[in-house]
Amino acid sequence: TIYRSSSYAPVNIAVIKYWGKRDPTLNLPTNSSLSVTLSQSDLRTHTTATCSASYTSDSLLLNGKDQDISTARTQACLRELRTLRRKLESESPHPLPELSSLPLKIVSENNFPTAAGLASSAAGFAALVRAIADLYGLPASPTELSRIARQGSGSACRSLFGGYVAWNKGEKDDGSDSVAYEVAPASHWPDMRALILVASAEKKDVSSTSGMQTTVKTSSLFPARAEQVVPKRMKEMEKAIQGKDFETFGNITMAESNSFHATCLDTSPPIFYMNDTSRAAIRIVESLNQAAGKVVAAYTFDAGPNAVIYYLAENEAEVAGTFKCILGKKEGWEGQRGKAVTAKKE
Ligand code: DP6
Repeated sequence: TIYRSSSYAPVNIAVIKYWGKRDPTLNLPTNSSLSVTLSQSDLRTHTTATCSASYTSDSLLLNGKDQDISTARTQACLRELRTLRRKLESESPHPLPELSSLPLKIVSENNFPTAAGLASSAAGFAALVRAIADLYGLPASPTELSRIARQGSGSACRSLFGGYVAWNKGEKDDGSDSVAYEVAPASHWPDMRALILVASAEKKDVSSTSGMQTTVKTSSLFPARAEQVVPKRMKEMEKAIQGKDFETFGNITMAESNSFHATCLDTSPPIFYMNDTSRAAIRIVESLNQAAGKVVAAYTFDAGPNAVIYYLAENEAEVAGTFKCILGKKEGWEGQRGKAVTAKKE
């Protein structure tokens, strides 16, 4: 017998950035963060998990290539999921197949470049955790699954929810309170749009995992960011989302991106994620906002040069149109227009 389950998980793009860990093994962050989950028809991972006594060992395939499944992060996720399944098997009043002891085969496909700073690990671990949780028939809530996915990749905990999602840094050493929660569903602000500008689909130089550890160790700007700047912005951002206040949403998003990249530059050796194309995108957003006399577009960059531009549907022609017009002619740019909607199960 082969037992099977499939799941999708979309990419999420942080508007308040996670950068820095207080515990690198459990992926416990130094600050809370907040993101917008993109529509799963845009950037997403699709994962099928199967288990069978006929398999010899656990295996993981990403975009057709064999991956190392023995990494501590993947193992942490598998261990947690198997423990929950074992509990279910031992507590069930009727006998359940012992899936927890069967080898797993995990097959994932990304519909976007992997490790190019497009949050592929976020969608990847979220889809993996959800596919196996479904395969095991776990009654786990998205919050509980977010605690598991966090151990695969921090930002993955936010991809278990659609819409506007916060990741509470938590206080406990065991990480049990370091979980994601929904700030508002996508339907709360259905006019929100995201334009993804792919400046480079190449693998990034410095991974988020090692980059943020070096920042924590060496940046003098970092403590103020983690202890004062981000906590204040978290509150303001949640309020802006509740009140559908794009001006504040946009201003905080841009300030956050700049603060994060400033701490990267303040790291020793310095980390550069943005390039000339990224800076050109910032200038375009600045001139669009100046011409409109208000914030109509907001940029943000993760650990790579690709830009994500948030805007409202009413400004589609102005924002997406301008980017298409200016950058469409330039080589190396390829736009993906997204809509922030709730992630649905397959
Ligand atoms: C800049 O979640 O990739 O995208 O926990 O080490 O896997 P690990 O890091 P990861 O870091 C994401 C960093 C970021 C900001 C964010 O998504 O909040």
